[in-house]
Amino acid sequence: MNKKSIKDIDFKSKSVLMRVDFNVPLDEEGNITDDNRIRAALPTIEGLLNQGAKLILMSHLGRPKGQVKPEFSLKPVVYRLSELLKRPVKMANDCIGDQVQREVNNLAEGEVLLLENLRFHKEETANDSEFAKKLSGLGEIFVNDAFGTSHRAHASTEGVTHFLESVSGLLVQKEIEYFQKVITNPQKPFLFILGGAKVSDKIPVIENMMDKADSIIIGGAMAYTFLKVGGILVGSSRTEDNMIDTAGKILEKAKAKGVEIVLPLDHLITNDIKSASEVKTTESVSIPEGWMGVDIGPKTIESFSSKIKEAKTIVWNGPVGIFENDKFALGTREIAKQIAVSSATSVIGGGDTAAAVLKFGYSDSMSHISTGGGASLEYLEGKILPGVAALADK
Ligand code: 3PG
Repeated sequence: MNKKSIKDIDFKSKSVLMRVDFNVPLDEEGNITDDNRIRAALPTIEGLLNQGAKLILMSHLGRPKGQVKPEFSLKPVVYRLSELLKRPVKMANDCIGDQVQREVNNLAEGEVLLLENLRFHKEETANDSEFAKKLSGLGEIFVNDAFGTSHRAHASTEGVTHFLESVSGLLVQKEIEYFQKVITNPQKPFLFILGGAKVSDKIPVIENMMDKADSIIIGGAMAYTFLKVGGILVGSSRTEDNMIDTAGKILEKAKAKGVEIVLPLDHLITNDIKSASEVKTTESVSIPEGWMGVDIGPKTIESFSSKIKEAKTIVWNGPVGIFENDKFALGTREIAKQIAVSSATSVIGGGDTAAAVLKFGYSDSMSHISTGGGASLEYLEGKILPGVAALADK
C-alpha cells in the first residue's frame, strides 16, 4: 500500500487519535454477538500501547442519527475491549467537549480512552469541519484502523485528516493489501462468487469484476432475476423485474468478454418462508407457481463446487441462500466448506458472508475475511475509499 502506516512513526509519549470500527452486532440485552471487529483492531492498539502511546479510540455504533440514544452507547464494547486487552480501558461520556479534553489530558503512556458514539452528533456523518477540528484537537496524530467505515467520508474518517498527520493502522493496511493482491494480480483462474438479494445493489461490482475474473458464480435471490432473462419460471421467488433488462445486458457483456457466468441449476424451495413447514428440491431449473427459492439445490452445489476446486483465487461476496435459517443454510455452508478446503487464495467480503463463514466454523481456513461489508463491496466496485485516500502518502 502506498500510504504511511503506524510502522513509519514513533509513537512514544504521543496522544494518538485512532478511528476504529467497533460497530458490532448486539442482541436485545446489549450483548455483543460477534466481536471480530474488536479483535481485528487489537494488533494496532497493542502495538501503539507497547510503544508508550496515549490512545484515544473513537467509533460509531449503529445509526443513531445525531441523537443520544442509550441503546447505541459503546459501553458494551469498552468491557469487551478491556477483557481482550487484559488492561483497563477508560470510557468518556461524549466524544468532544471540556470533560473529554480533561480525560485525554490525564491519560498516561500506555493508557486507553474510548470516546462515546461519534454518531450521537449529526456533524459526524455530515463531515462537518468544525466537528472534525474538535475531534482532531484531542490527539497529536491520527490513525485510521476502521476499514469497515473507510468508504464513508465522515468527520472521524476523512475530516480529521485535514488537521492531523494521518496514517493507517495494521488492519486497514492488511485489508487493502489483500484486496489489492486479488484485484490487481490474481492467480488464475480467478473466481468471483456473488450472492445476496438484490441485483440493483450489485451491478457496479459485477461490471468491475467482469474485467478481472474468469468466472462469476451468481447465487442468492439475485440469481432468480438473472434466470428470468432466459424466460425461466421462478414461481414467487424474490425478483426485481425492473432489473431483468440490465441483467440481460450483463449476461451479453460477459459473453462478449469471455467471462463465464455460472447460474443455479436447481433450487431448494418452500411455499411458506416463515414456517418452512414444506421444503423441497426442484428437479430442474424452474420453480413451480406458489413456491419460492430459498437456497441452491444439490446439482448447483456440485456445479459451484467444481468451479471452486478449479480456482486459484476466490473472492466471495454474498450468501447463496437464507443461511440464517438452518433449513435453508446447506448451500451457503457447502460453498464455505469448499472454499475452506481449497488451496486458492480466498478473500471473504465482510457483512453477511463473514457472518456465514463464522457460523459454519470455517473462519480459520480462509486467507482473509474482511471486517468491512459496504467498504469491501465498494473496493470491489473499483471505488476509491475516502478514509484511505485521505491518509498520508509514503
Ligand atoms: C458497517 O457496518 O458496514 C460499517 O460499520 C459502516 O456502517 P454504516 O453503514 O452505518 O456507515
